[in-house]
Amino acid sequence: MKNLNEELYFLKERLEKEQAEEEAQAKKISLEHEKTLTKKDEEVVLEKREKTSTKKLGGGANETVFVELKDDGSAIFKPKAGEYALLRTEVKAGTYYKRERAAYLVDQFLGFDLVPPTVIRKIDGKEGSLQEFIPNAPVASRCDESQWNKEELKKLWVFDYIIYNSDRHGSNLLIKDEKVYAIDNGLSFGKDSLGLFGGFSNEPIGDGVAEKIKMFLSWKQGRQALRNLLCELIEEKEADACLHRIEKVGKMTKGEAVNVVNREKFSFNPLD
Ligand SMILES: Nc1ncnc2c1ncn2[C@@H]1O[C@H](COP(=O)(O)OP(=O)(O)OP(=O)(O)O)[C@@H](O)[C@H]1O
Ligand SMILES: [Mg+2]
Repeated sequence: MKNLNEELYFLKERLEKEQAEEEAQAKKISLEHEKTLTKKDEEVVLEKREKTSTKKLGGGANETVFVELKDDGSAIFKPKAGEYALLRTEVKAGTYYKRERAAYLVDQFLGFDLVPPTVIRKIDGKEGSLQEFIPNAPVASRCDESQWNKEELKKLWVFDYIIYNSDRHGSNLLIKDEKVYAIDNGLSFGKDSLGLFGGFSNEPIGDGVAEKIKMFLSWKQGRQALRNLLCELIEEKEADACLHRIEKVGKMTKGEAVNVVNREKFSFNPLD
Protein backbone atom coordinates (compact mmCIF):
# COMPACT_ATOMS: atom_id res chain seq x y z
CA MET A 1 0.00 0.00 0.00
CA LYS A 2 2.82 2.32 0.94
CA ASN A 3 4.43 1.73 -2.46
CA LEU A 4 1.23 2.45 -4.30
CA ASN A 5 0.77 5.69 -2.41
CA GLU A 6 4.30 6.69 -3.13
CA GLU A 7 3.87 5.91 -6.82
CA LEU A 8 0.69 7.97 -6.95
CA TYR A 9 2.45 10.81 -5.23
CA PHE A 10 5.30 10.83 -7.74
CA LEU A 11 2.89 10.53 -10.65
CA LYS A 12 0.92 13.52 -9.40
CA GLU A 13 4.11 15.48 -8.91
CA ARG A 14 5.30 14.67 -12.44
CA LEU A 15 1.96 15.63 -13.97
CA GLU A 16 1.96 18.93 -12.11
CA LYS A 17 5.49 19.65 -13.27
CA GLU A 18 4.60 18.85 -16.89
CA GLN A 19 1.54 21.05 -16.68
CA ALA A 20 3.56 23.94 -15.26
CA GLU A 21 6.10 23.55 -18.06
CA GLU A 22 3.38 23.53 -20.70
CA GLU A 23 1.82 26.65 -19.19
CA ALA A 24 5.19 28.45 -19.11
CA GLN A 25 5.78 27.51 -22.76
CA ALA A 26 2.30 28.72 -23.78
CA LYS A 27 2.94 32.00 -21.93
CA LYS A 28 6.28 32.43 -23.70
CA ILE A 29 4.68 31.83 -27.11
CA SER A 30 1.87 34.23 -26.33
CA LEU A 31 4.38 36.94 -25.29
CA GLU A 32 6.32 36.36 -28.54
CA HIS A 33 3.08 36.71 -30.51
CA GLU A 34 2.16 39.88 -28.70
CA LYS A 35 5.58 41.32 -29.48
CA THR A 36 5.11 40.54 -33.17
CA LEU A 37 1.76 42.29 -33.23
CA THR A 38 3.23 45.40 -31.61
CA LYS A 39 5.25 47.92 -33.60
CA LYS A 40 8.94 47.66 -32.73
CA ASP A 41 10.89 50.62 -31.33
CA GLU A 42 13.13 50.56 -34.42
CA GLU A 43 10.09 51.06 -36.65
CA VAL A 44 8.94 54.04 -34.59
CA VAL A 45 12.41 55.58 -34.89
CA LEU A 46 12.40 55.12 -38.66
CA GLU A 47 8.90 56.57 -38.96
CA LYS A 48 9.30 59.58 -36.70
CA ARG A 49 12.94 60.52 -36.19
CA GLU A 50 13.98 63.78 -37.84
CA LYS A 51 16.41 63.35 -40.73
CA THR A 52 19.61 65.36 -40.54
CA SER A 53 21.09 64.69 -43.99
CA THR A 54 20.51 62.81 -47.24
CA LYS A 55 22.96 61.57 -49.86
CA LYS A 56 22.05 59.85 -53.12
CA LEU A 57 23.98 56.61 -53.53
CA GLY A 58 23.62 55.99 -57.28
CA GLY A 59 24.98 52.98 -59.11
CA GLY A 60 21.87 50.81 -58.78
CA ALA A 61 18.83 50.70 -61.03
CA ASN A 62 16.57 52.49 -58.56
CA GLU A 63 17.08 55.69 -56.63
CA THR A 64 18.63 54.87 -53.26
CA VAL A 65 19.34 57.55 -50.70
CA PHE A 66 21.45 57.27 -47.56
CA VAL A 67 19.65 59.13 -44.77
CA GLU A 68 21.02 60.13 -41.39
CA LEU A 69 18.55 60.31 -38.53
CA LYS A 70 18.90 62.65 -35.59
CA ASP A 71 20.70 60.85 -32.74
CA ASP A 72 19.74 57.45 -34.00
CA GLY A 73 21.73 55.88 -36.79
CA SER A 74 21.00 55.93 -40.47
CA ALA A 75 18.76 54.37 -43.09
CA ILE A 76 18.31 53.64 -46.76
CA PHE A 77 15.45 55.49 -48.45
CA LYS A 78 14.00 54.24 -51.73
CA PRO A 79 11.41 56.65 -53.09
CA LYS A 80 8.47 55.44 -55.15
CA ALA A 81 9.22 58.12 -57.73
CA GLY A 82 12.74 56.75 -58.21
CA GLU A 83 11.71 53.19 -59.08
CA TYR A 84 12.98 52.05 -62.46
CA ALA A 85 10.13 50.83 -64.66
CA LEU A 86 11.61 48.09 -66.82
CA LEU A 87 13.01 45.74 -64.23
CA ARG A 88 10.31 43.04 -64.33
CA THR A 89 7.28 42.19 -66.43
CA GLU A 90 4.96 41.34 -63.53
CA VAL A 91 5.98 43.46 -60.55
CA LYS A 92 5.24 47.02 -61.57
CA ALA A 93 7.32 50.09 -60.77
CA GLY A 94 5.61 52.29 -58.19
CA THR A 95 4.96 49.25 -56.00
CA TYR A 96 8.50 48.15 -55.05
CA TYR A 97 8.71 50.25 -51.89
CA LYS A 98 5.54 48.71 -50.50
CA ARG A 99 6.94 45.25 -51.24
CA GLU A 100 10.03 46.16 -49.19
CA ARG A 101 7.78 46.74 -46.18
CA ALA A 102 5.68 43.63 -46.96
CA ALA A 103 8.86 41.49 -46.97
CA TYR A 104 9.82 42.90 -43.57
CA LEU A 105 6.40 42.04 -42.15
CA VAL A 106 6.53 38.46 -43.43
CA ASP A 107 10.01 38.13 -41.90
CA GLN A 108 8.73 39.44 -38.56
CA PHE A 109 5.71 37.18 -38.42
CA LEU A 110 7.81 34.14 -39.25
CA GLY A 111 10.47 35.21 -36.75
CA PHE A 112 13.23 34.68 -39.33
CA ASP A 113 14.97 37.94 -38.47
CA LEU A 114 16.58 38.48 -41.86
CA VAL A 115 15.19 41.83 -43.02
CA PRO A 116 16.31 45.05 -41.30
CA PRO A 117 13.38 47.07 -39.90
CA THR A 118 11.61 48.70 -42.85
CA VAL A 119 8.79 51.27 -42.85
CA ILE A 120 7.01 53.51 -45.31
CA ARG A 121 7.65 57.17 -44.86
CA LYS A 122 7.85 60.55 -46.64
CA ILE A 123 11.26 62.18 -46.91
CA ASP A 124 11.50 65.61 -48.56
CA GLY A 125 7.92 65.24 -49.74
CA LYS A 126 8.52 61.90 -51.46
CA GLU A 127 6.98 58.65 -50.31
CA GLY A 128 9.16 55.57 -50.17
CA SER A 129 10.56 52.77 -48.04
CA LEU A 130 13.00 53.53 -45.25
CA GLN A 131 15.15 50.67 -44.03
CA GLU A 132 17.58 50.63 -41.13
CA PHE A 133 21.15 50.90 -42.43
CA ILE A 134 23.42 48.06 -41.30
CA PRO A 135 26.90 49.54 -40.88
CA ASN A 136 30.07 47.62 -41.73
CA ALA A 137 28.19 44.82 -43.46
CA PRO A 138 29.57 44.03 -46.91
CA VAL A 139 27.36 42.49 -49.60
CA ALA A 140 27.83 38.70 -49.90
CA SER A 141 29.54 38.91 -53.29
CA ARG A 142 32.34 40.91 -51.67
CA CYS A 143 32.87 38.41 -48.86
CA ASP A 144 34.94 35.31 -48.82
CA GLU A 145 32.70 32.24 -49.04
CA SER A 146 34.12 31.04 -45.73
CA GLN A 147 32.19 33.90 -44.12
CA TRP A 148 28.86 32.62 -45.42
CA ASN A 149 26.76 30.99 -42.75
CA LYS A 150 25.07 28.11 -44.51
CA GLU A 151 22.18 27.77 -42.07
CA GLU A 152 21.37 31.46 -42.44
CA LEU A 153 21.56 31.19 -46.22
CA LYS A 154 19.23 28.19 -46.26
CA LYS A 155 16.80 30.18 -44.13
CA LEU A 156 17.10 32.92 -46.77
CA TRP A 157 16.21 30.37 -49.50
CA VAL A 158 13.03 29.48 -47.67
CA PHE A 159 12.25 33.15 -47.06
CA ASP A 160 12.84 34.11 -50.69
CA TYR A 161 10.59 31.30 -51.84
CA ILE A 162 7.87 32.47 -49.45
CA ILE A 163 8.03 36.07 -50.67
CA TYR A 164 8.75 34.86 -54.22
CA ASN A 165 11.73 37.13 -54.62
CA SER A 166 12.87 37.46 -58.22
CA ASP A 167 16.01 39.38 -57.35
CA ARG A 168 18.18 37.70 -54.72
CA HIS A 169 21.77 37.80 -55.82
CA GLY A 170 25.12 38.34 -54.10
CA SER A 171 24.65 42.11 -53.94
CA ASN A 172 21.22 41.95 -52.34
CA LEU A 173 22.26 40.44 -49.06
CA LEU A 174 24.65 41.68 -46.43
CA ILE A 175 26.91 39.59 -44.21
CA LYS A 176 28.00 40.60 -40.75
CA ASP A 177 29.29 38.41 -37.92
CA GLU A 178 27.84 35.22 -39.40
CA LYS A 179 24.46 36.90 -39.75
CA VAL A 180 22.67 37.50 -43.04
CA TYR A 181 20.63 40.64 -43.78
CA ALA A 182 18.16 40.47 -46.66
CA ILE A 183 18.04 43.84 -48.42
CA ASP A 184 16.46 45.00 -51.69
CA ASN A 185 13.26 42.96 -51.41
CA GLY A 186 11.15 45.13 -53.73
CA LEU A 187 10.88 42.72 -56.65
CA SER A 188 8.92 40.15 -54.65
CA PHE A 189 5.42 38.68 -54.29
CA GLY A 190 4.72 38.64 -58.03
CA LYS A 191 4.92 36.06 -60.80
CA ASP A 192 8.42 36.79 -62.07
CA SER A 193 10.64 33.77 -61.72
CA LEU A 194 12.57 33.20 -58.53
CA GLY A 195 16.10 34.37 -58.05
CA LEU A 196 17.65 32.41 -55.18
CA PHE A 197 21.12 32.82 -53.75
CA GLY A 198 23.38 29.80 -53.24
CA GLY A 199 23.07 26.21 -54.37
CA PHE A 200 21.42 24.07 -51.72
CA SER A 201 19.52 21.46 -53.66
CA ASN A 202 18.44 18.49 -51.53
CA GLU A 203 20.02 19.72 -48.35
CA PRO A 204 18.03 19.46 -45.14
CA ILE A 205 16.61 22.67 -43.83
CA GLY A 206 17.48 23.48 -40.21
CA ASP A 207 15.08 22.36 -37.49
CA GLY A 208 14.84 25.94 -36.26
CA VAL A 209 13.32 27.12 -39.56
CA ALA A 210 10.84 24.24 -39.70
CA GLU A 211 9.84 25.00 -36.11
CA LYS A 212 9.25 28.68 -36.89
CA ILE A 213 7.04 27.79 -39.86
CA LYS A 214 5.07 25.38 -37.70
CA MET A 215 4.64 27.99 -34.96
CA PHE A 216 3.38 30.57 -37.45
CA LEU A 217 0.93 28.16 -39.06
CA SER A 218 -0.58 27.22 -35.70
CA TRP A 219 -1.07 30.89 -34.82
CA LYS A 220 -4.48 31.69 -36.32
CA GLN A 221 -4.61 35.29 -35.16
CA GLY A 222 -1.16 35.95 -36.60
CA ARG A 223 -2.08 34.56 -40.01
CA GLN A 224 -5.11 36.83 -40.17
CA ALA A 225 -3.14 39.85 -38.92
CA LEU A 226 -0.39 39.29 -41.48
CA ARG A 227 -2.93 38.89 -44.28
CA ASN A 228 -4.63 42.16 -43.31
CA LEU A 229 -1.32 44.01 -43.21
CA LEU A 230 -0.14 42.56 -46.53
CA CYS A 231 -3.41 43.46 -48.24
CA GLU A 232 -2.64 47.13 -47.53
CA LEU A 233 0.63 46.81 -49.42
CA ILE A 234 0.26 44.26 -52.20
CA GLU A 235 -2.65 42.79 -54.15
CA GLU A 236 -4.99 40.53 -52.21
CA LYS A 237 -4.20 37.58 -54.46
CA GLU A 238 -0.47 38.14 -53.90
CA ALA A 239 -0.99 38.15 -50.13
CA ASP A 240 -2.98 34.92 -50.33
CA ALA A 241 -0.35 33.33 -52.56
CA CYS A 242 2.32 34.20 -50.01
CA LEU A 243 0.34 32.59 -47.17
CA HIS A 244 -0.28 29.59 -49.42
CA ARG A 245 3.48 29.20 -49.94
CA ILE A 246 4.06 29.28 -46.18
CA GLU A 247 1.55 26.42 -45.90
CA LYS A 248 3.35 24.61 -48.69
CA VAL A 249 6.66 24.88 -46.82
CA GLY A 250 4.81 23.72 -43.68
CA LYS A 251 3.69 20.57 -45.53
CA MET A 252 7.17 19.99 -46.90
CA THR A 253 8.70 20.19 -43.44
CA LYS A 254 6.20 17.94 -41.70
CA GLY A 255 7.47 14.75 -40.13
CA GLU A 256 10.90 13.48 -40.86
CA ALA A 257 10.97 14.69 -44.46
CA VAL A 258 12.63 17.98 -43.63
CA ASN A 259 14.36 17.83 -46.97
CA VAL A 260 12.80 20.92 -48.43
CA VAL A 261 15.64 22.88 -49.88
CA ASN A 262 14.81 21.67 -53.32
CA ARG A 263 14.65 23.92 -56.35
CA GLU A 264 11.90 21.93 -58.03
CA LYS A 265 9.56 22.11 -55.05
CA PHE A 266 10.29 25.78 -54.71
CA SER A 267 9.00 26.55 -58.19
CA PHE A 268 5.33 26.29 -57.18
CA ASN A 269 3.59 29.66 -57.23
CA PRO A 270 -0.17 29.81 -56.64
CA LEU A 271 -0.28 32.91 -58.87
CA ASP A 272 0.67 30.95 -62.02
N1 LIG B 1 19.78 48.28 -45.12
C1 LIG B 1 20.97 48.45 -45.68
N2 LIG B 1 22.09 48.50 -44.90
C2 LIG B 1 23.32 48.69 -45.43
N3 LIG B 1 23.53 48.88 -46.76
C3 LIG B 1 22.46 48.85 -47.59
C4 LIG B 1 21.13 48.64 -47.10
N4 LIG B 1 20.29 48.68 -48.15
C5 LIG B 1 21.03 48.92 -49.23
N5 LIG B 1 22.35 49.03 -48.93
C6 LIG B 1 23.48 49.30 -49.83
O1 LIG B 1 23.01 50.02 -50.96
C7 LIG B 1 23.16 49.26 -52.16
C8 LIG B 1 21.98 49.49 -53.08
O2 LIG B 1 20.79 49.11 -52.41
P1 LIG B 1 19.69 48.21 -53.13
O3 LIG B 1 20.30 46.94 -53.57
O4 LIG B 1 18.54 48.12 -52.21
O5 LIG B 1 19.33 49.16 -54.35
P2 LIG B 1 18.81 48.91 -55.85
O6 LIG B 1 19.13 50.07 -56.65
O7 LIG B 1 17.38 48.55 -55.78
O8 LIG B 1 19.57 47.66 -56.29
P3 LIG B 1 20.27 47.16 -57.59
O9 LIG B 1 21.69 47.65 -57.44
O10 LIG B 1 20.14 45.69 -57.37
O11 LIG B 1 19.57 47.68 -58.77
C9 LIG B 1 23.35 47.82 -51.70
O12 LIG B 1 24.09 47.04 -52.60
C10 LIG B 1 24.08 48.01 -50.37
O13 LIG B 1 25.45 48.19 -50.59
MG1 LIG C 1 20.30 45.77 -55.18
